[in-house]
Amino acid sequence: MLAAVHALCFADPDVAGPAWSAQAIADLMGLPGVAALIAQDEQEPLGMALIRTVVDEAEILTIGVTPTARGRGLGTALTQACVDTAAAAGAAALYLEVAETNAPARRLYAATGFEPVGRRANYYHLGGQPVAALLLRRAMGANAVV
Ligand SMILES: CC(C)(COP(=O)(O)OP(=O)(O)OC[C@H]1O[C@@H](n2cnc3c(N)ncnc32)[C@H](O)[C@@H]1OP(=O)(O)O)[C@@H](O)C(=O)NCCC(=O)NCCS
Repeated sequence: MLAAVHALCFADPDVAGPAWSAQAIADLMGLPGVAALIAQDEQEPLGMALIRTVVDEAEILTIGVTPTARGRGLGTALTQACVDTAAAAGAAALYLEVAETNAPARRLYAATGFEPVGRRANYYHLGGQPVAALLLRRAMGANAVV
């Protein structure tokens, strides 16, 4: 089910890269400290996130909302749930990588308290072009600006 939702969220590989296979997601779920978060209504899953916590650092491995469910706060709610999960697991900071060209995701993360701490040039290949990754960090206990 996670792979099916991920495939919907990452149907456009030019935005944030290709969807992950069911095997890749199963492999990640088998690693210590990995948790899946799902946003859903009564009928169907509408978004998902995978988060990994190792000692005092956590990372959002992937996060997405299905295209027809976007723009109504689910991405914000999922991101906040990742923050809460990381804090509950004892993390002092939560990290993620985002393509520099992914404007909706960058707005989401800025609004939920993430700050850039690094940049990796040519990290992604999106739409036939090299695209930099921004490494973002959110300190636990930091206030979001929303
Ligand atoms: C990024 C993503 C998770 C946001 O989900 P969402 O449910 O639309 O998020 P929200 O409704 O909480 O809105 C968060 C921000 O995104 C903005 N946004 C949503 N859809 C947008 C769009 N089509 N274009 C521009 N901005 C958009 C919102 O306006 C909001 O910004 P604001 O604070 O300026 O209002 C979603 O667009 C997505 O799944 N994208 C594809 C996968 C992806 O890029 N994942 C992140 C990889 S790092």
